[in-house]
Amino acid sequence: MFENSENNLLNEDVQGNATLKNTPSSKNGKKVYLESYGCAMNFSDSEIVASILTKEGYETVKQPEGADLILINTCSIRDKAEQTVRNRLNFYRGLKKSHNKNMIVGILGCMAERLKDQLLEEEKLVDIVAGPDSYRDLPNLITNVEGGQKAVNVLLSREETYADISPVKLGENGVSSFISIMRGCDNMCSFCVVPFTRGRERSRNPETIVREAQELFDKGFREVTLLGQNVDSYRWNITKKGEIKDDTQETVSFAQLMEKVSLVNPDLRIRFSTSHPRDMTDDVLHMIAKHENICNYVHLPVQSGSSDILKKMNRGYTREWYLDRIAAIRRIIPQSSVSTDIISGFCGETDEDHEKTMSLVREVKFDFSFMYKYSERPKTLAERKYEDDVPEELKSKRLAEIISLQKKQEKELNKRFLGQTKKVLVEGPSRKNPEEWRGRLSENTVVIFKNNNYKPGQYIKVKITEHGTAVLKGEVIS
Ligand code: 5AD
Ligand code: SF4
Repeated sequence: MFENSENNLLNEDVQGNATLKNTPSSKNGKKVYLESYGCAMNFSDSEIVASILTKEGYETVKQPEGADLILINTCSIRDKAEQTVRNRLNFYRGLKKSHNKNMIVGILGCMAERLKDQLLEEEKLVDIVAGPDSYRDLPNLITNVEGGQKAVNVLLSREETYADISPVKLGENGVSSFISIMRGCDNMCSFCVVPFTRGRERSRNPETIVREAQELFDKGFREVTLLGQNVDSYRWNITKKGEIKDDTQETVSFAQLMEKVSLVNPDLRIRFSTSHPRDMTDDVLHMIAKHENICNYVHLPVQSGSSDILKKMNRGYTREWYLDRIAAIRRIIPQSSVSTDIISGFCGETDEDHEKTMSLVREVKFDFSFMYKYSERPKTLAERKYEDDVPEELKSKRLAEIISLQKKQEKELNKRFLGQTKKVLVEGPSRKNPEEWRGRLSENTVVIFKNNNYKPGQYIKVKITEHGTAVLKGEVIS
């Protein structure tokens, strides 16, 4: 299933010292427009692609009109995500006709990996199909297309982490950024397509992670989110069984990696995503408690409150186990916010199972939640083994119930901040009203306050005076 990329000459370097030099290249006069969908990892990958192409002389542009190369970094997690990209291709068909007959269109990411050559047959507009582990090959793929051929590379690698590539920041706020620390996922949750599209789990060299954090800090960034599909299984120089690979080199666990990054500077905030309830250990929580700049916020996807459903989902934990992890968070980091992901209407979900999800939401009181209807994905264990038997209307009804409960609780929970004075990282003007500015608490909640010549990236103290469902309002104290 997972192929090894043998043509990837840089893989060996990724394990050791980074050797791909940031050599300035002359511009080739061509413009690339990158469009990303889906998870933070995709947005982070697009910055790696931008870096690779910038070295080839491409200029990244903010509008697709006039671009020579359009790259769409896609998501396959739910059917709707794929449909969004298919619809977007209609726009690019028009653009190619009206603006640039020679425009090259490439599909990157999870849809590329899942559909492979099939995409070329179904979407005549598409010239390049490149999976998440083949971005170093993009310059060759582009050359092939310029020579009149279509080009596909969907090899998955066991080593590629793009460790040596300094991402080119695209459209960020200059304050917060992502750092990818690992790739792939070995978990095989029965509903999830990710193990098929992103391949086997591998961790990135910690030195290169710390270096990237330092570079970002030096450029003015004040918050980094360490990204991985399952960050708790980050391990450097340690085998899956816990043995040391090379005893001349240091070993690094996820908790230790967080500490290393937190030591870059006390003014650099650290976040991470995503944890897995089965693997999240107390030492990660103790590390959050130990360092002020590791944020009091844990995203811990539960998916369902029913142990029977969790078993069918192949999540490797029960409702009781999950609640024990929540209790550990509250014991070790009492200030912490907690958020989650929930899927409604998974195969065989009964009213009773749904009620268990509702009661878990009531019991835990999540500060925030991403909630979805189950979407069957081809080739997953669930697709092969179980029937997608919850009718669409019932999925929607259950989802609406979960969302309504969650929103009600969120508003109540935000009350706890009233009257408190909190440290806020300034992000910039609020989206609704440029007179007002926005910033973020360590707990990840957004705070709105009056602008008074603050600078993005500055820390201020804000007294919270109002609360809503999603945001707080406050007065700046200092
Ligand atoms: N259907 C619905 N939601 C899904 N997720 C993953 N796969 C599916 C699917 N097939 C959700 C999970 C996961 C989040 C990233 O997306 O909740 O945590
Ligand atoms: Fe998918 Fe499960 Fe891996 Fe998350 S942990 S990416 S839900 S297989």
